[in-house]
Amino acid sequence: MSNYHIKGLEEYFQVYRKSVNTPEKFWEEIAEENFVWRKKWDTVLQWDFTKPEVKWFEGAQLNITENCIDRHLYTKADQTAIIFEPNDVDEQAQHITYKQLHERVCKFANVLKDQGIEKGDRVCIYLPMIPELSIAVLACARIGAVHSVVFAGFSSTALSTRINDASCKLVITSDGSYRGKKTIDLKGIVDEALAKTPCVDSVLVVKRIHTEVAIKEGRDHWLQPLLEKASATCDAALMNAEDPLFILYTSGSTGKPKGMVHTTAGYMVYSAYTFKNVFQYRQGDVYWCTADIGWITGHSYIIYGPLVNGATTVMFEGVPTYPDWGRFWQIVEKHKVTQFYTAPTAIRALAKESLDNVTKYDLSSIKILGTVGEPINEEAWHWYDENIGKKGIPIADTWWQTETGGIMISPIPYATPTIPTFATLPLPGIQPSLMDENGVEIKGNQVDGRLTIKFPWPGMARTIWGNHQRYKETYFTAYENRYFTGDGALRDATGYYRITGRVDDVIIVSGHNLGTAPIEDAVNEHPAVAESAIVGFPHDVKGNALYGYVILKETGESRDQDNVRKEINQLITERIGPIAKLDKIQFTPGLPKTRSGKIMRRILRKIASGESEQLGDISTLLNPEVVATIKDNALL
Ligand code: PRX
Repeated sequence: MSNYHIKGLEEYFQVYRKSVNTPEKFWEEIAEENFVWRKKWDTVLQWDFTKPEVKWFEGAQLNITENCIDRHLYTKADQTAIIFEPNDVDEQAQHITYKQLHERVCKFANVLKDQGIEKGDRVCIYLPMIPELSIAVLACARIGAVHSVVFAGFSSTALSTRINDASCKLVITSDGSYRGKKTIDLKGIVDEALAKTPCVDSVLVVKRIHTEVAIKEGRDHWLQPLLEKASATCDAALMNAEDPLFILYTSGSTGKPKGMVHTTAGYMVYSAYTFKNVFQYRQGDVYWCTADIGWITGHSYIIYGPLVNGATTVMFEGVPTYPDWGRFWQIVEKHKVTQFYTAPTAIRALAKESLDNVTKYDLSSIKILGTVGEPINEEAWHWYDENIGKKGIPIADTWWQTETGGIMISPIPYATPTIPTFATLPLPGIQPSLMDENGVEIKGNQVDGRLTIKFPWPGMARTIWGNHQRYKETYFTAYENRYFTGDGALRDATGYYRITGRVDDVIIVSGHNLGTAPIEDAVNEHPAVAESAIVGFPHDVKGNALYGYVILKETGESRDQDNVRKEINQLITERIGPIAKLDKIQFTPGLPKTRSGKIMRRILRKIASGESEQLGDISTLLNPEVVATIKDNALL
């Protein structure tokens, strides 16, 4: 029996038991049998959650790109590694074979070296979903540079914050990007960001939309001519198991974004193992994950997990609405997609449109469906099951996080029976535990609590870039000897998990993680604003939408409130990006506060969700009288 590819429920339980009873043996066998190492490890695992310090496969040496590319050249050089489906239906799709990928990654890696990038240097990648994005990621890994991909929907301010935090030396971007009917001036955004980033020496620019852009002499270089001159061989850098592979930023409930650091060997083993099992990938399959590589889902399940397994992975540049709402299904039919992985928010949006968008395409190639990023509601689950899966295809509701590196709780398709809205069972190696508010583990079934993990797994982030203390405080102090996820969950009578949502001040909007603090900071920058509080409220497509309570300064002049609303959203777009815009803005004379001055968001959340009858006891507030005013003026 191989631990690596589980095919039935009984096998799952056997493998799971082994993974818990002898975790080191379990992971060692997987690492041993399925990857290429330049040198094997001395120890499988060293860990101490109190520091916290976690090391997997210490002593091993490897390069992840040799696992993603070189080793496949012996058996599948001419197999397609990446299918690139452009934004425009009339532009031809590209099929990049493993051999071509090897050549393109090596050339790109040599260009990076020529720009002075060395092992350990940080490189920021701010690109649309075009092949160069995956190639840039792999080129960094090839030479041991640490990539920091920033989602190309983030604003120039968000970009410069991230570039500075990691002291990136080089930025890779494009002249612009296509997004449905629109084009976006990415280079312009980068130029704005770079006015505030002294660490950046050079910029590589991919030509994609062929617009005129400003090129700063000495700093900016068009990529294509450099690639043409570059050699197509590049030795892979020898990396230690715990060398950082990449940094990826995620929102925290307070403060600036957290640069989660993932390291080489553990991340490789975990992303590959989970990909193989959750998507039951077999030779010849065409796998498609609709996420953007700017998020962890794209890192683990468009690039690394699929490529380590020698899969064919689809990259889609466009949006589900262009040229019409049938685009996803047109792509499934065109490329005969076998595994389709998307977000509940996309499913909810598609479900609102005519079914003709779906029925006119042949979806019979699909064998597995997946969702990720937020809880999937029952209605969306059934729509997906009935209309896309035709009631015969398993849906993997996969729960995980930027911090976890890979999928943690998910059905194993064709093995684990699914129930709508349940992520079901932990993958082998994952030991979840539910905790009560006093820090005591809640044992048994039919219980709910806060979701923690009590044993390390190879894919976990090792630190926050430049701030290990914050890593410790955020994830390892709430519960002793446990990683705290920030999520609530329930465990039903059969032991299945259902994730109920965040228990902190992170709000998931359209599957994107947004912290309230940075949004409030942006709102408070408006000259008319004295104070603000942002909360989430249920939204039928986005899952959650943002509701802002704003106290205006008494300026004496009466401002046009609608204008202030527009200006506030403009500020948010500039500081963070359009994804963080507020759906509703209520002006209020005060905010409910505790005696220690903390805003009582629980009350604000209830009011925004139309549940103002269930506010509970508010008598301990510093200013209980303000609650009635807020209730009366709520925007419902
Ligand atoms: O609240 C959980 C939610 O998304 C959070 C992690 O967000 P992020 O780091 O951006 O990673 C998203 C992609 C892995 C989690 O703490 N979440 C993610 N997947 C699910 C989910 N909530 C419920 N069900 C899921 N399947």
